[in-house]
Amino acid sequence: MADKEVKVKVICSVAPGFEQIALNECKDKLKCECEKELRGRFSVTITIKEIHRLSELRAVNHFWVIVKEIETPFKSIENDEKSIQEYLDNLAAELNWENGLLAWKTYKIFEKSRPLNPSVKRKPKMESDVQDVEEIPLNYVAIDPLTAGQALAFRVTTQRTGKHIFGSPFVDRYFGSGVQDLFNWKVDLTNFNIKVVVHVLDDSISVGIQLTEDCQALRNLTHFGPTNLRANISYGLLKLANTKPGDIVCDPMCGGGSISLEGAVGIPGTFHVAGDNHEKAVENASDNYTALSKLNKTENSTLPMSVLRMDVYHIPLRTACIDRIVTDLPFGKKSGNKERNMFLYPNALYEMARICRPKGKAVLLTQHKKALWKALMICKLWSMEYCTKINMGGMNISVYVLGRTKDKFTPRSLKTTEGVKARHNPRVKKNEEFLKNNINENLDKLHIENKDCENKQQNDLIKEIETLN
Ligand SMILES: C[S@@+](CC[C@H](N)C(=O)[O-])C[C@H]1O[C@@H](n2cnc3c(N)ncnc32)[C@H](O)[C@@H]1O
Repeated sequence: MADKEVKVKVICSVAPGFEQIALNECKDKLKCECEKELRGRFSVTITIKEIHRLSELRAVNHFWVIVKEIETPFKSIENDEKSIQEYLDNLAAELNWENGLLAWKTYKIFEKSRPLNPSVKRKPKMESDVQDVEEIPLNYVAIDPLTAGQALAFRVTTQRTGKHIFGSPFVDRYFGSGVQDLFNWKVDLTNFNIKVVVHVLDDSISVGIQLTEDCQALRNLTHFGPTNLRANISYGLLKLANTKPGDIVCDPMCGGGSISLEGAVGIPGTFHVAGDNHEKAVENASDNYTALSKLNKTENSTLPMSVLRMDVYHIPLRTACIDRIVTDLPFGKKSGNKERNMFLYPNALYEMARICRPKGKAVLLTQHKKALWKALMICKLWSMEYCTKINMGGMNISVYVLGRTKDKFTPRSLKTTEGVKARHNPRVKKNEEFLKNNINENLDKLHIENKDCENKQQNDLIKEIETLN
């Protein structure tokens, strides 16, 4: 019988490109051995009794406990379909499943005991599945997966990389049939309790049991829009911005609010301002905020976040009041269009620079690299600190970490053709009006703050605003 003090190896999947962020989080929070595996994955060695702590990891998407990793299994057998079929058919019976299944059971007991957003529960894929989809009432405490037989349903899912004479469905079928013979579990591709995952990478095979349910990355959302960002990617962006307790973070193009919601729950001590100019987006973000607040309700506090309708050309916040700006810009595909981005991006950068405090940072995610590079050439108020690529649903997306430069902030600093066009835009004009009208108020606030602040950049900014008056 397996023992909860036993250590198991768990593989975590992360957004490719954010492995280091996930590893740092894992080391900080779990204080256990972890190392990078392939692109988009890292491994953790953890005791079964602590397996529930994996749910604290916000940068990960899925995780599965390893039953067995086999190097070069195919070398010892003939490279023909029949021999491989036979090998896969017999493989399940040769493995020791005890620790993996105890880890699965322990995690499930924990998972069923905690409140989750309804969106995290698996949904039927097709309308026709609806009548079949009844939550299987399973007592995870009482069940022994080794002997439960038909009381448990399972599926096998294979991911294959490399050149083989067989495909993934071949592995699903023959390895799955061996698992069924061994445990007598029911096969159910939709309503399964156990998901056995097989990874075939070139000459190696690894067999695992997935611990996470589907849709972990949508854990903060109940109301969806066309371009919702995954929670684990939102976490990665906030970490790239080096968001720390005490910081006020703004997402001025928040859509359904994914980044701010993740920050409010996942990075303690931070406050989040989420805005969007689209009525429906603001409605979704507010509804998501309300639903998530109920889940995270504590006696003395509400979720540290505000949602408001705002136009990024004219953010209703005073100058230099934000520590971090973290946003997912419209790529010009599902949201906005590419031509408009050439105008939107420089103006957004400019207005973000106004609200960002000296030495503040912005982390921007976009697929429209050209528009962002051009915007950075136009708006000199940001310097590029770091740029990385992540993979989001098969798309290569760029993430830019920008630092606020010392360059002078003036409402008239857009000098290029786009800048000239921008200055004739009624929204930019309105912004300039707004700044002029509010400048004294901003100045007063900055003077008050400056009593305790010896920051030279802050003083420069005050002088700058004075010269504008
Ligand atoms: C890529 S989506 C953001 C998606 C969001 N991260 C989420 O998870 O739902 C870009 C958002 O920018 C907003 N947007 C576009 N132009 C804007 C503007 N001028 N001011 C404010 N928001 C704007 C769009 O309404 C859209 O919701």
